[in-house]
Amino acid sequence: MTEENPLVESVGEGETAGDEWEDIDVSDTEADRIARKRDREFSEFRKRLKDADQLKLDDSAFDDATYAAIYKLVQDGHVSAIGRPISTGKEANVYEAAADGGERDVAMKVYRVNASSFRQMRDYLEGDPRFEGLRGDKKAVVLAWTRKEYANLKRAQDAGVPVPDPIAVQRNVLVMELLGEEDDAAPTLHDVHLENPETAYENVREYMRRLFRAGLVHGDLSEYNLLVWEGEIFVIDVGQAVTVHHGNADDFLERDCRNVANFFARQGVDVDADDLYDYVTEPIADDDAA
Ligand SMILES: Nc1ncnc2c1ncn2[C@@H]1O[C@H](COP(=O)(O)OP(=O)(O)O)[C@@H](O)[C@H]1O
Ligand SMILES: [Mg+2]
Repeated sequence: MTEENPLVESVGEGETAGDEWEDIDVSDTEADRIARKRDREFSEFRKRLKDADQLKLDDSAFDDATYAAIYKLVQDGHVSAIGRPISTGKEANVYEAAADGGERDVAMKVYRVNASSFRQMRDYLEGDPRFEGLRGDKKAVVLAWTRKEYANLKRAQDAGVPVPDPIAVQRNVLVMELLGEEDDAAPTLHDVHLENPETAYENVREYMRRLFRAGLVHGDLSEYNLLVWEGEIFVIDVGQAVTVHHGNADDFLERDCRNVANFFARQGVDVDADDLYDYVTEPIADDDAA
């Protein structure tokens, strides 16, 4: 990897963020084993879930192994009840769920193993050093994608970017903190009236920079993947986020900057995509960040 890449330079020499290798094995998960075995307990659990109205919504997302993944999450105590869908998207559905017997609200994102866009998913994974040697079939890609979202949430959190707290990942199911309340999930930046767009912009800009310095480019950042909750902006939907070493990282970052700058310009903020890009990629040594 010796091509000229301005992104790599700007995160500093030697210790380059984003190079850490995360051990992932998506070949045969415990959920797959449970689904194969289909013992009585699992069969009853699956029947209970299938009978629940909320889950009839989109059966295609729920093959046996997906039920088994949810079953495992329930057994492990990460989920105790599943509520209504918050969102049904192309690649995933997001449900409200409860944990700790209703003490805590969580969000459960269920990726479709039959996602039609899995080829694009693979393109995002290829070139990411964390996913070298990944098998190319649909299941492996979607499972790796789910793990990547979990890992990216953790990394963003460690970098000081407000994100939903990642709780657990099982096969194609991710459990995270619910932003908002039961029946009242947090709105996106697109859906709120901003009292102070200038400050909101400064926050988002700072989060983009922190992500970048942690070796990540979001890759799908816009007002639709920023949630507003308790006066704070949270970054979500980081499944596609790539490390700065990805061949397309620079293009993704430019696009993110355009989306964010366009949104805030419409809110009356004096912003420009190029200035935002420069801010995000500014080398650490050039400012007084700790
Ligand atoms: N942790 C969360 N808390 C509350 N709402 C969420 C959470 N995660 C996702 N959502 C809601 O679900 C929608 C879709 O989630 P997202 O992760 O963006 O998936 P998609 O790939 O379908 O865009 C979001 O726009 C948001 O409204
Ligand atoms: Mg989204």
